[in-house]
Amino acid sequence: MYRGFEETRGKESAESVVVIENLKKSFGNEVVLSNVSLKLFQGENLVVLGKSGSGKSVLIKCIVRLLAFDEGKINVLGYNIGELNNTDLGELRKKVGFLFQSGALYDSMTVRQNLEFPLLRIRKELNRKEVDDKILEALENVGLADALEKMPSQLSGGMRKRISLARTIVVDPSIMLYDEPTTGLDPVTSQEISVLINEVQKKYKTSSIIITHDIECARKTATRIVMLQDGAIYKEGSLTDFEKSDDALIKAFFMQSGT
Ligand SMILES: Nc1ncnc2c1ncn2[C@@H]1O[C@H](COP(=O)(O)OP(=O)(O)OP(=O)(O)O)[C@@H](O)[C@H]1O
Ligand SMILES: [Mg+2]
Repeated sequence: MYRGFEETRGKESAESVVVIENLKKSFGNEVVLSNVSLKLFQGENLVVLGKSGSGKSVLIKCIVRLLAFDEGKINVLGYNIGELNNTDLGELRKKVGFLFQSGALYDSMTVRQNLEFPLLRIRKELNRKEVDDKILEALENVGLADALEKMPSQLSGGMRKRISLARTIVVDPSIMLYDEPTTGLDPVTSQEISVLINEVQKKYKTSSIIITHDIECARKTATRIVMLQDGAIYKEGSLTDFEKSDDALIKAFFMQSGT
């Protein structure tokens, strides 16, 4: 029986904002996640590494039930994701910012409208001035206050990523899920995005999961790293643990940046 939003809130996760236990997810015969257990602690930047197709995007989509999972348990901010009804799931999703791999902006809307859209939907209590102030603050945080009235087509790839980030943080999420935030960007812009991720974490006290292939981004942002392989967590540790590892698979990841 469904117990409602507050009743499904467990007390077991005082300092973990996400707890994933024995998660399984298949598409037909293809087992993508066979047994993933993982915690995201309050205030940390958890970097998830793994080769293409290892299920990184699937994993974070399961966290907000953009994809239904087959078995296991996911607890987010104390709520049992598998048990929430759609209304309560909608409420929970307001607390979780999701920066999609594609970073899709609404092409027919100005930057201002792109940010206004989630804000008016999620923060209904705000008055006009508060909405305008929050939009400007989010844009200032990504260094693009002057892009307010621009259309997405007038922006470069890096600027679009920044605006996507501004659109995600404008509603003050307590958890951020970043899917490949620096993919397709030049090294300088990638570095700026990594710096922004750290600034967002400090300023908004967010806890984040950052999926990346970009080892420099991992180096800049990671409080902790996990590597996904064959549907399960292959290794968990600090940046130093990974950099010092003799494991061939891990070495292959860290060699790509030439260090
Ligand atoms: N909606 C879906 N329907 C069917 N299969 C899917 C779906 N989404 C993902 N998959 C499959 O799940 C596997 C993992 O996909 P996922 O997108 O999570 O990989 P990834 O680790 O994020 O890879 P990349 O680094 O390339 O983004 C892939 O084999 C993919 O084809
Ligand atoms: Mg992916």
